[in-house]
Amino acid sequence: MYARYIAFLTTLVAAAFAIYPYFDTQDFIYNVPKVYRISITLDKLLEYYEKKPSKDPEWYIALGIARGQLEYTINEMDKSVPPKLKENLQNITRKMDRIRNNTDVSAFVYRNKDYEYVSKTIFENMDVLSSLMEPLTLGTMGTQKPYQFTFEQYVQEARTKMPSRKAADACTMQLLISAMETQTTQADGACELTPECQAQLMKGSGLAFQQTSRLRAAILARLFDCMEGVDTSAHIYKLCIQIYKETKSLEAWNHPPGTRTLFMQQILYCASQGYGEFIKPRWMNKILAWQEPKGCYADDRQPFLKLTGFVGPASTPPPKDREEEYRVKKVATSEGGSCNSLTSAMALGSLVMYVRALLETDQAFQYDVLI
Ligand SMILES: *[C@@H]1O[C@H](CO)[C@@H](O)[C@H](O)[C@H]1NC(C)=O
Ligand SMILES: *[C@@H]1O[C@H](CO)[C@@H](O)[C@H](O)[C@H]1NC(C)=O
Repeated sequence: MYARYIAFLTTLVAAAFAIYPYFDTQDFIYNVPKVYRISITLDKLLEYYEKKPSKDPEWYIALGIARGQLEYTINEMDKSVPPKLKENLQNITRKMDRIRNNTDVSAFVYRNKDYEYVSKTIFENMDVLSSLMEPLTLGTMGTQKPYQFTFEQYVQEARTKMPSRKAADACTMQLLISAMETQTTQADGACELTPECQAQLMKGSGLAFQQTSRLRAAILARLFDCMEGVDTSAHIYKLCIQIYKETKSLEAWNHPPGTRTLFMQQILYCASQGYGEFIKPRWMNKILAWQEPKGCYADDRQPFLKLTGFVGPASTPPPKDREEEYRVKKVATSEGGSCNSLTSAMALGSLVMYVRALLETDQAFQYDVLI
């Protein structure tokens, strides 16, 4: 992985200097004030969840992965980064560790059994997941324009897409069960997806959370080598191009209620796959501005989830499920009024990606230039 990283950088530096001959590698230092601002936001966000521990597994998944990204950033940091900033970031990693150490995993609330398996397996593999670093590059996403249609039309269109959250949970579970079996048994079976799940990942198109859930499954499928003969990297690339168009559309529609979580999730997932187009100072400013005064992030996305068909229409679930649904909802919102743990998780993850991108020399200066 590291060798690949070096190789990438070398080609990129050559390309960068060809385009921007006036920059030298010290220019990234102009990003330092931005990172300061992010670190203040992160500090406040983590402080909030240190005081009010979340029971949402997604928060801890995001925390674990952010911890890995941040540690990598600190270790690789250029010597010209001010020591105080480095100390700030180190303090943030310590805060993350404290939160993790004080986590009562047994108190977590899961939306269903499939998702419980998925979350637990992700926790068990956190060391691997949090050390995956895709090199960040610019110039591969092309100039995607926002959609021509309106937000209402987008919501209608999303309803026709696959998978629903339930179907996505089921397939991600299937994928991880197969992946874990190949890791723990001596038998030489490969990780496999059922044809239905393979189709869910590969075929057709998606929008909104339908699309980010496919992307997450594709990332896991690539990590555990679950689709023999399929170029998962190319597929991830294709998904992120489509997502990029959507991210720009959400912005063009002026971030309708309930879409902030999605916006930050798109940035987090695709930037972590190395697509530098998702790093934009103006997007960073939005995310910073969305923080609630008490430190968390809020976004009432339930209506949006329902309108886009990602979670089913309000059919009457059996009483046991209804109880579960209530508890999940309560967990997501109980942490101080309007705070939402998934929204907070996506803010944490995307902001840490920004810290890494802004401090990575050689290309960090470009983010202001490429809109
Ligand atoms: C980091 O944390 C230590 C211990 O809490 C504190 O003394 C120090 O001032 C912090 N550093 C920064 C830059 O905030
Ligand atoms: C968290 O726990 C680990 C292992 O138990 C320990 O090494 C570490 O010092 C703890 N960190 C904090 C910040 O409490």
